[in-house]
Amino acid sequence: MSTIEKAVTKLNRDSAGHAENHAKNSDLQTEQQTGQQTIVQRAAEQDVISAQAEALQHPDKQDGSAYTVQLDLAMLEKKNFVSLSKDRRLINEEYRVIKRKLINNAFGALSKTLEHPNLILVSSSRPGEGKTFSAINLALSIALEQDKTVLLVDADVLRPNVSKTLHISHHLGLTDYLQSTSVTVPDILLSTNVERLKIITAGSPHHLSTELLASERMSQLVDEFATRYPDRIVIFDAPPLLGVNETAVMAAMCGQAVIVVEENRTRLAEIEQSVSLLPKEMAVGFLINKAHRNQGKGYGYGYYYGAS
Ligand SMILES: Nc1ncnc2c1ncn2[C@@H]1O[C@H](COP(=O)(O)OP(=O)(O)OP(=O)(O)O)[C@@H](O)[C@H]1O
Ligand SMILES: [Mg+2]
Repeated sequence: MSTIEKAVTKLNRDSAGHAENHAKNSDLQTEQQTGQQTIVQRAAEQDVISAQAEALQHPDKQDGSAYTVQLDLAMLEKKNFVSLSKDRRLINEEYRVIKRKLINNAFGALSKTLEHPNLILVSSSRPGEGKTFSAINLALSIALEQDKTVLLVDADVLRPNVSKTLHISHHLGLTDYLQSTSVTVPDILLSTNVERLKIITAGSPHHLSTELLASERMSQLVDEFATRYPDRIVIFDAPPLLGVNETAVMAAMCGQAVIVVEENRTRLAEIEQSVSLLPKEMAVGFLINKAHRNQGKGYGYGYYYGAS
């Protein structure tokens, strides 16, 4: 049994009695079985940034954003991110399964039992387990849905890698908004060349960066995200849960969490400790990352619901 299977088994045991659990467990077992056939390719490490797309101002835009950035989709495809072209790629199929569950939780019958079900925190126990890679792929995959829009927020203010990975830059981001009332949402909200994808970068480094994530202004911003556009999913690339107290505070503002688990590296005790920091009532999924093709394993995804 893999670490994640043990963790999920234990979590499911802990939450026995919860009405949703039975259905979730069956889901998980099916996922684990099919997960053996889905495989993941570990792409090369990020190259040094060769070119940066600067945000350009479009003051007339009606959709709440004043700036637009161009994502280099060919570069992302080459690095094995979810592709927006017509190609049928394995990674697209894997993320399609994962996003379907998140969208169902956000807008389906279960959404009524969650607060802010359209807000999804992507975190992990420790740094470097694939949060940014997973958050970007989820955002790209959801942007492929015809009737949904997605906002990707780089909330990992200490290791702000969304803009680095996407090769974009903009002078104002989340921390700038959080520390100054003169910065507005349109100042930080970036449209992209992907029609249904918007991005907020992390912003300037600040000595109280993580504290800002737990601030009242953050809570108000998150509330606005949750309610303003009913078809929108918001994905937060968050700091790790262990060692950054504010991540748990942010989690409490979201209805769902995706915990990225690095296969063969994340320890069971760390997963348990991380999950114990999450609010009991949120929907939590695990995404197993960096499985190796030659071991015949792949992304696996399982849910448990509120380990009370
Ligand atoms: N499944 C994967 N396939 C290919 N490359 C991956 C995969 N997962 C992660 N990577 C690469 O591994 C490196 C670390 O991943 P990533 O930056 O997503 O981790 P992180 O958890 O966000 O790290 P940090 O805590 O530093 O923010 C990156 O270079 C990323 O592109
Ligand atoms: Mg990251």
